[in-house]
Amino acid sequence: MRIFSGIQPTGAKHLGNYIGAIRQWAAAQDDSLFCIVDLHSISVAYDPEDLRESTYSLAALLVACGLDPERCILFVQSHNPDHAQGNWLLSSVSSFGELRRMTQFKDKADQQEFVSVALFEYPVLQAADILLHQTEGVPVGEDQRQHVELTRNIAERFNARYGETFVVPEVLTPKLGAKIGDLQEPAKKMSTTGGTAQGTVLLLDEPDTIRKKVRSAVTDSGREVRRGPGKEGIENLISIMSVATGDDFDAVEARYDGKGYGDFKSDVAEAVIELVRPIQARYEELRSDPAELQRLLAVGAEKARASSGPTLDTMYGRMGFTRP
Ligand code: TYM
Repeated sequence: MRIFSGIQPTGAKHLGNYIGAIRQWAAAQDDSLFCIVDLHSISVAYDPEDLRESTYSLAALLVACGLDPERCILFVQSHNPDHAQGNWLLSSVSSFGELRRMTQFKDKADQQEFVSVALFEYPVLQAADILLHQTEGVPVGEDQRQHVELTRNIAERFNARYGETFVVPEVLTPKLGAKIGDLQEPAKKMSTTGGTAQGTVLLLDEPDTIRKKVRSAVTDSGREVRRGPGKEGIENLISIMSVATGDDFDAVEARYDGKGYGDFKSDVAEAVIELVRPIQARYEELRSDPAELQRLLAVGAEKARASSGPTLDTMYGRMGFTRP
């Protein structure tokens, strides 16, 4: 299955990104595409210097998380101009009404003083990312499901109007961890923009910071390490533990039967520290060699252009453009 997924460079990457998305990518990477979506990052206020820096850091982090540029196509969105062009063409088959209903737009627009047109158009650019590469599956966390469903609608509309051009992609959410909650407010997703700093475990956090964040996670007034109504905080920690150790929920619950929250939280913290330790070590190595990172991204950009070019040409042709 041809997979495409993307991640924004700005904002520190956290356990939710890893568990909901990146972890699955490494497992299905052969002949698939993974994109650092820098064009999406300018849809809200940002600092140009930070964008440059975070684009390279994210490339290093993705390789450290197991993406192998020899096996997959890892590239930066702006290095392939087809995406911006595809965005414009697809915006003609996207409606104002459907974009206005996107929950991410509504949530993010509420947080901005200045609501850009780019923020509104964000899902159309995302559709171009996906459709230009004839993608069959899009592995994302639950929060991105609506955007992939919109992409399907856009693909079907384009195909109906101009002839079969795009594969209509499937959304792939992981069975476990599709929505990791903020440790302080577990009903909200873990996020560097909408969540709390104390409730967001960053992939590059120091071990002591991870211990503090996990130990101060909000739980409930009970004592049992079990899923159940009113126990979102504990359930969130069970999910994290389950992913970090590879044990299923029942096994985690059985192991902590009769033990209190204190022991459980300490063990979750240590499991997360072990999970990120090799990622952090590899990240440091890669980050210290910017020339090598630039080389990897140049190779990725070339492969990405070769992948999207034919579809973009077909779009222009079917839409009646006369470009040679
Ligand atoms: P972004 O950068 O916000 O997030 C990257 C991925 O991380 C997942 N994620 C989570 N999963 C579980 N729990 C959480 N708390 C959590 N927070 C984030 C997201 O679902 C996502 O899969 N619009 C996309 C980027 C994008 C894209 C694309 C994705 C641009 N073009 C094409 C797929 C295909 C985004 O902002 O992701």
